[in-house]
Amino acid sequence: MLSSLVSRALAVALVCGSALCKHVELDWNIEYIQANPDGMNQRRVIGVNGKWPLPEVHVDLGDKLVIHAHNKLDEATSLHTHGFFQNGTNHYDGAAGVTECGIAPNSSYTYEMNVQQTGTYWIHSHYKAQFVDGLRTALISHAPREVYQYDDEITLMLEAWYHRPSEDVTDQLLSTSERIRTAPFLPYMLINSAGGRDLSKTKIKMEPGKTYRLRLINVSGTGMVRFGIEDHKMSIIEVDGVDTEIKVVNCMQLSAGQRVSVLVTAKESAAANYVFHADIFTDIQSGVARADLPFQGIVEYSASAPLLNTTANTTLDWEFSQDIDLVPVEKLAAPGVHKWVPLEVHTAVFDDRREHLAFNNRTYEPPTVPSLVTALTTGYQAYYPDVYGFKTNPVIIDPLEDVEVALFNLDVNSHPFHLHGHNFYIMVRGTIDRNPKNRLAAGKYPIRRDTITIPPKSYAIVRFRADNPGVWMFHCHMQFHQEQGLAMVFVEAPFLMNATLTLPAALKQNCDIMGIPTQGNAMGRSGLDLPDEHRGPFPLAGL
Ligand SMILES: *[C@@H]1O[C@H](CO)[C@@H](O)[C@H](O)[C@H]1NC(C)=O
Ligand SMILES: *[C@@H]1O[C@H](CO)[C@@H](O)[C@H](O)[C@H]1NC(C)=O
Ligand SMILES: *[C@@H]1O[C@H](CO)[C@@H](O)[C@H](O)[C@H]1NC(C)=O
Ligand SMILES: *[C@@H]1O[C@H](CO)[C@@H](O)[C@H](O)[C@H]1NC(C)=O
Ligand SMILES: *[C@@H]1O[C@H](CO)[C@@H](O)[C@H](O)[C@H]1NC(C)=O
Ligand SMILES: *[C@@H]1O[C@H](CO)[C@@H](O)[C@H](O)[C@H]1NC(C)=O
Ligand SMILES: *[C@@H]1O[C@H](CO)[C@@H](O)[C@H](O)[C@H]1NC(C)=O
Repeated sequence: MLSSLVSRALAVALVCGSALCKHVELDWNIEYIQANPDGMNQRRVIGVNGKWPLPEVHVDLGDKLVIHAHNKLDEATSLHTHGFFQNGTNHYDGAAGVTECGIAPNSSYTYEMNVQQTGTYWIHSHYKAQFVDGLRTALISHAPREVYQYDDEITLMLEAWYHRPSEDVTDQLLSTSERIRTAPFLPYMLINSAGGRDLSKTKIKMEPGKTYRLRLINVSGTGMVRFGIEDHKMSIIEVDGVDTEIKVVNCMQLSAGQRVSVLVTAKESAAANYVFHADIFTDIQSGVARADLPFQGIVEYSASAPLLNTTANTTLDWEFSQDIDLVPVEKLAAPGVHKWVPLEVHTAVFDDRREHLAFNNRTYEPPTVPSLVTALTTGYQAYYPDVYGFKTNPVIIDPLEDVEVALFNLDVNSHPFHLHGHNFYIMVRGTIDRNPKNRLAAGKYPIRRDTITIPPKSYAIVRFRADNPGVWMFHCHMQFHQEQGLAMVFVEAPFLMNATLTLPAALKQNCDIMGIPTQGNAMGRSGLDLPDEHRGPFPLAGL
């Protein structure tokens, strides 16, 4: 006991600038493991230190979080701290192809960051669709004094799980054969990495009279979830790391990448147990295989109490679009508009006969040289979008510019869009037909989120201020849609990056091992020397 106090004190003295801060250091061997989380299918997953699922990570505001990641896989990997702004540490944002080359097999990289935000986050691979194979965990950042009081907290990671490796799913979706790419495949629901068809194995244990903070994190690679507990109300108090004024709901939607905290007050007696619903709505494949997959679990007060199963109070009463009505506890006025970035979202068969998704008809493919490396090594040309490559779809932003992004989802599916490095203010939502009845405008202090879900044939207008120099990815968090090209980058304040960012030697070493150049434009050449750049595929006419 004493020695642990001493080592804690030493860590404080040696590592942190501030007297209150501590050093949370994780040493992770990232490796393949066999697991059977739903009792139906043994498969290869990605775990750490011989275990899967990964441990939850808890930090306090002001801490330093250090993750030593050692890649024991047969391909590259990376770790992204989803929702952390990485202010001054863009090179630890973990987006492979954007802020690093990835961690080479048999190599290591240390992610090091100051914990500057509180709330519910998660850590996941940002290399291809790897996190769908299990390389993800909850990251909870505690405030010295939380806004709301509660007796206990429970993290619930909700996830659509596949019996096949993510690579197979990506290959299927990108097949040139329409028959193959539209063949239905249905996920199974996992809660905290367990479940499957029979969520009665998944229990949320509550004690009478207590108030719980449930931290819901949708860690799916696809699909939407609807979550509710029979005959229990939920008070929303946080979305994506932003504390909110209380909004009481029965059953809500949550999309891949999003987090919501709710307070739930337990019943006064342990006379009965209740059913919770965590239904998946899958809509990954355009036009086919849509399904509502009902999944249920048990809120258990007592192992011997009877189960009340009524389906009461679980009708969806809080949809994605209703986040615009939330009021943040910290009241910040929205930025204005200096730069307007319209983005149209399409799904189409492109001229390579594959189905891609695209912003403004450009389907993303990572450049050879990560965009951050290009920004730091091309001098004044870092200001020209072309140096980052056509297919990264870059938008260059000036320091402290107020950016308004208008997202027009012309697709028949909803999409959850995630911005790295920032959260954004949700200003307006509406439908593409501009029906005024469907227009929702924010109040005086708009809610801020880092992931926004836009329903089919709908739009949203969001704003952020460019106060965080770096290259920040913006993409659909249905990870397979990112693989199909629904991504782009914001290159924020390229001329200021040199002053605040230094690429760690280990970043360059990893690039070297994989034969990736560490300077120059998207193709590793100087200036605008990209004449033979492959720009396609392009959408076939008639989108
Ligand atoms: C990684 O190291 C192991 C053990 O030294 C070796 O067997 C394996 O081939 C290496 N893998 C790669 C991709 O270099
Ligand atoms: C999680 O998000 C995915 C993708 O947006 C969605 O299909 C799924 O239903 C969500 N799950 C929950 C529990 O909201
Ligand atoms: C749930 O529904 C039941 C039956 O309609 C009702 O009696 C009860 O008050 C409701 N509970 C909540 C928490 O809304
Ligand atoms: C609740 O009842 C429904 C309908 O009878 C049944 O399908 C479901 O499995 C029950 N849920 C639990 C958790 O027992
Ligand atoms: C995308 O392509 C379609 C069909 O060619 C065209 O109608 C649309 O205007 C294009 N959108 C953008 C933003 O270029
Ligand atoms: C950043 O610094 C490097 C090394 O000093 C230099 O080569 C590069 O041109 C600079 N980039 C910008 C955008 O100023
Ligand atoms: C980043 O840090 C700077 C300097 O402290 C601050 O002005 C800015 O608001 C921060 N931006 C974000 C997104 O945290």
